[in-house]
Amino acid sequence: MDLSVKIKDKILPNPVGVASGTFGYGEEYSTLCDLNSIGAIYTKAITLEPRNGNPPPRIVETPSGMLNSIGLANVGIDKFVNEKLPWLKQHFANVVIIPNVAGTSEEDYCQVVERLEEIDNVWGMEINLSCPNVQYGAIHFGTNPYMVEEITEKIRMRTKKPLIIKLSPNVSDIYDIASAAQNGGADAVSCINTLIGMVIDTNKCRPVLANKTGGLSGPAIRPVGVRAVYQVSRIVKIPVIGMGGITNADDAIQYFLAGAKAIQVGTANFVDPQISNTILTGIVKWMERHNVESVAQISTLMRDY
Ligand code: SIN
Repeated sequence: MDLSVKIKDKILPNPVGVASGTFGYGEEYSTLCDLNSIGAIYTKAITLEPRNGNPPPRIVETPSGMLNSIGLANVGIDKFVNEKLPWLKQHFANVVIIPNVAGTSEEDYCQVVERLEEIDNVWGMEINLSCPNVQYGAIHFGTNPYMVEEITEKIRMRTKKPLIIKLSPNVSDIYDIASAAQNGGADAVSCINTLIGMVIDTNKCRPVLANKTGGLSGPAIRPVGVRAVYQVSRIVKIPVIGMGGITNADDAIQYFLAGAKAIQVGTANFVDPQISNTILTGIVKWMERHNVESVAQISTLMRDY
């Protein structure tokens, strides 16, 4: 059975990755699950300078999901390169590490990418043009196809590693944004990031999150993610990585049938740190039951009425 996934000229060992922002820098989960069996670890978004993120409260549970407004809290590129990546290299040399990169300006993104380009245990990069919780950058680039194409081109000039653009569902036509990423030179797109939402505390008569709004994730958004992957994968030629509310193998198979070549597990990691391993086992069992020999083949089984 072939579980591998090709992106650009490189191979992921299996299609089940863990999504940025739900898995720290990998180290936090190293005693809770088998990192070696994860297809790719997408680390928490890294910016040029360290960030404290938004004031608390910045997480609230919702029906079948959660709303976060972390605000890209992270250690910054220096600490990431000097401490987090060396630790991963020392303990998990063969695990695919794909840092998620964010910034407030094009120059920020480019500088972070240039730093990561030099590091051998960075497999590729996922560019965050979709975080909805910041005043500048991220989603402010990712909702405009012209800006997406321009920033992707600038980043492309600075890296030969696989370049993945992470898309926001908070747009009218996600396939236009995906096309812009492809035109700018992206090797893959990942979709979807969170949907903007709000929860109001009816006793305090104010929003629960200090930032007022946040990004909704979890099973509640899965149909939106599956729809986005279905639409995007019919427009672009580059691989689509699907995510949004995947909690079991059946959810993952929906994404593959919709056209995803790989998936990411996000919010479910908070419920069960071993869930990505369990999902991979379930995918293999599904493939056995359906006589499918490769993950790439799953999408060919999709029937469009
Ligand atoms: C955050 O840090 O606010 C979430 C990151 C994201 O949505 O990309």
